[in-house]
Amino acid sequence: MSKVSRREVLQSGALVAAGSLLLKPAFAHPALFTTAVDKAEEAGVIQGIPEIDLGPREHLLFDFDWRFLQGHATDPAKDLNFGADQGDFAKTGDFRFAQPKFDDSQWRDLKLPHDWAVELPFVNDHALTSHGYKPLGRKYPETSVGWYRRTFNIPKEDEGRRIYVNFDGIFRSSLVFCNGAFIGRSDSGYAPFGFDLSDFLNFGQPNSIAVRVDASYGDGWFYEGAGIYRHAWLTKLDPLHAGQWDTVVRIEVQPGSATLNLSTLVENTGSTKESCRVHWQILDGTGKAVAVAESPVAEIPVDEKQGFTATTRIARPAIWSLEQPTLYYAVATVEANGKVRDRDKVSFGVRTLTWDLDEGFLLNGVKTPVQGTCNHQDHAGVGAAVPDRLQAFRLEVLKGMGCNAIRTSHNIPTPELIEACDRLGVLVLCETRIMSSDDEGLAQLSTMIRRFRNHPSIFLWSMGNEEWELQQNDAGPHVIHAMQQRTHELDSTRLCTAAVNGSYDKALAPCLDVMGFNYNLSQIDKYRKDHPKQLLIGTETASAVFTRGIYTNDKLRNWVSSYDVVYPDTSVDFGQAWWNFYSSRSWLSGGFAWTGFDYRGEPSPYGWPSVSSQFGIVDTCGFPKDAYFRYKAWWDNEPLLHLFPHWNWPGREGEEILVQTECNLDSVELFLNGKSLGSQKVVPQYHQEWKVNYTLGTLEARGTKDGKVVLTETRRTSGPAARIILTPDRTELSANGEDVAIIRVETVDKDGLPVPTADAFVRFKVSGEGNLIGVGNGDPNCQESDKKPERSLFNGLAQVIVQTTKNPGTLVIEATGRRLDSTTLTLVTKEAKLRAAVV
Ligand code: GAL
Repeated sequence: MSKVSRREVLQSGALVAAGSLLLKPAFAHPALFTTAVDKAEEAGVIQGIPEIDLGPREHLLFDFDWRFLQGHATDPAKDLNFGADQGDFAKTGDFRFAQPKFDDSQWRDLKLPHDWAVELPFVNDHALTSHGYKPLGRKYPETSVGWYRRTFNIPKEDEGRRIYVNFDGIFRSSLVFCNGAFIGRSDSGYAPFGFDLSDFLNFGQPNSIAVRVDASYGDGWFYEGAGIYRHAWLTKLDPLHAGQWDTVVRIEVQPGSATLNLSTLVENTGSTKESCRVHWQILDGTGKAVAVAESPVAEIPVDEKQGFTATTRIARPAIWSLEQPTLYYAVATVEANGKVRDRDKVSFGVRTLTWDLDEGFLLNGVKTPVQGTCNHQDHAGVGAAVPDRLQAFRLEVLKGMGCNAIRTSHNIPTPELIEACDRLGVLVLCETRIMSSDDEGLAQLSTMIRRFRNHPSIFLWSMGNEEWELQQNDAGPHVIHAMQQRTHELDSTRLCTAAVNGSYDKALAPCLDVMGFNYNLSQIDKYRKDHPKQLLIGTETASAVFTRGIYTNDKLRNWVSSYDVVYPDTSVDFGQAWWNFYSSRSWLSGGFAWTGFDYRGEPSPYGWPSVSSQFGIVDTCGFPKDAYFRYKAWWDNEPLLHLFPHWNWPGREGEEILVQTECNLDSVELFLNGKSLGSQKVVPQYHQEWKVNYTLGTLEARGTKDGKVVLTETRRTSGPAARIILTPDRTELSANGEDVAIIRVETVDKDGLPVPTADAFVRFKVSGEGNLIGVGNGDPNCQESDKKPERSLFNGLAQVIVQTTKNPGTLVIEATGRRLDSTTLTLVTKEAKLRAAVV
């Protein structure tokens, strides 16, 4: 696979024209993007998700009604006496804390996903820099271990079924117990895992599960959270069932049709051999069947897995594209002697991925430069426990600036993120955490590939990031060969890359299907010359190291100016330079900026009291920095004009202030209080600037195209903050106990003008059918609580995230602050079908 012809089509065939409706959120503040996305959904650009009956299979959400206790990593007395004696693991079934009758009434109630790290205070210890100064690690045993417990009933009728518990991700080192018995462990903080509980369950009686989570060790060098921070599931199956992640759809696109090669591995965990077949139904986004297929009958001995395959065609398939991300569903039914024994479903998209040595990456035969951002997985207020709706919100923010791809740096992602990418039309470079060909490394890699291989958004797999030992030693090529080979065995349709940041002359880099450059613009042309037969992409390019709304470097306040003049040591390239470089070399497939969102930890370029990084193009809440508009001018086809800074500079009258615009029109003319300060031609990919003597009033930029003013932007000097304004991303939510509203908090003066420098402290009271689950303001230096119902604004903005209960009604958020008119926002929570869940 590493040898690629001038144009090797990985999934061959000509193309069927994609639909013409575009998913292009009209630019407004990102808090309003959803409206545009909702409209796109109504217009059918983004599909709804059809309801699919899984027959005898029950796939139950296991998120609600857990109890939690902070344990202790070194003192058994504070850790349920776990490990107090040698004999803990000696007998099966006598872990008291995991027995149904154990009294956990003093434990705290909560629901998953949950991250306890975000609830902890900040601690000024250099060892905690990566964690964003949250006290996790061997030095902090009292806050590094957490216990989760849940009791649940299994009806008598379930006897004979196989019942599995699955966790999408726990940070980290989990020990799972059921009804007193130790069931299994998983150390990875990112790989999904699960266990068969059937033998240990009490049918017709109460059961309990307990999970001990130990976040003393980290997997990475960035904020990783702590706890069961992704969804948990309980799945009930016939002993004869489709294996987990074992249904695969391979697609060949031909003119006017697509051939689907279907396969399912069926597992016989019963006590007699079985004869069965698999029947597949292909559904479109409305749930209508568009094709069927059936395998021959085959026998499966006890405790064995058997592969079933068939081929079918879809006529005139809708193509999955970034503009119209159409999904199909394959429903695999296992039938034995005419009886349906199990059913599984996967979603997929019909599209082609092509790589070309001269043109780079092509989606559906069209050159598609990757306009990507790397992202970690935490958000303001909630840390790593990101609700599903917030995953989509984050993508909408990124998509709003023309970002068409994300890199899941540096770990296996949450499934809901990938599903949101499928649905919204965002490409994914999907990365595993450990670059290694040891058992654990290959197991994690295999899990990632098997879990996600049907998803159309994933266009490339990443074997890891900046492994500076492997990049230069003799082990590197062996490890990469083994990892790529495993990947291609499990998925013959995609190539592999890895993010390499040096030792380019050594053996690892040339082994990669697609060489991934981290930074180092100056090395790329030479590398291309030396390796003309290797595909190239920018896995990590440059950073927007700015503090939102700040226009000066201030080492005392840990601020970085929003004018593009600072860069961190690692990125060595100005934010502005990289896209210019990449877009002028057609053989480069585009790249990924570091990062889309600011994230906790890695508080570069300063340390304490900064608790978040400043690398993002948007802050930890998703509020855009000025750089957002720079990217939007480059990446989005919409006309754009952005003017900065704000025009509130009391005390600086007469001083020179640097004014910049980002624009993709022909020219920009700047006016101060109606007087022209001159016009500037737009040089593509560069900003425009003026030095302006400050006087309060109105700064206005007029953007011209073909001699006509097509856009204007103004910044007006405001008075003091007088009133609070709350703007939700949506006003109607689902009353399902999971949906969230993401609310922008700002202040305006008495005339209704936004106050860009406001730092008011705002308190929130949430009542009715919802709860506050987090607050933030995007200030990398703010150490206020993420969980208390209060937050100061940072440069005019803060964010509140509220989550619905399962009761329809209204959710009321009241915001108050000193010398400010308070405000009340009422959201409607509408009756919604609840996901099937464990009771
Ligand atoms: C890169 C690394 C990222 C992040 C970044 C900070 O080298 O891959 O994870 O640490 O540096 O600049």
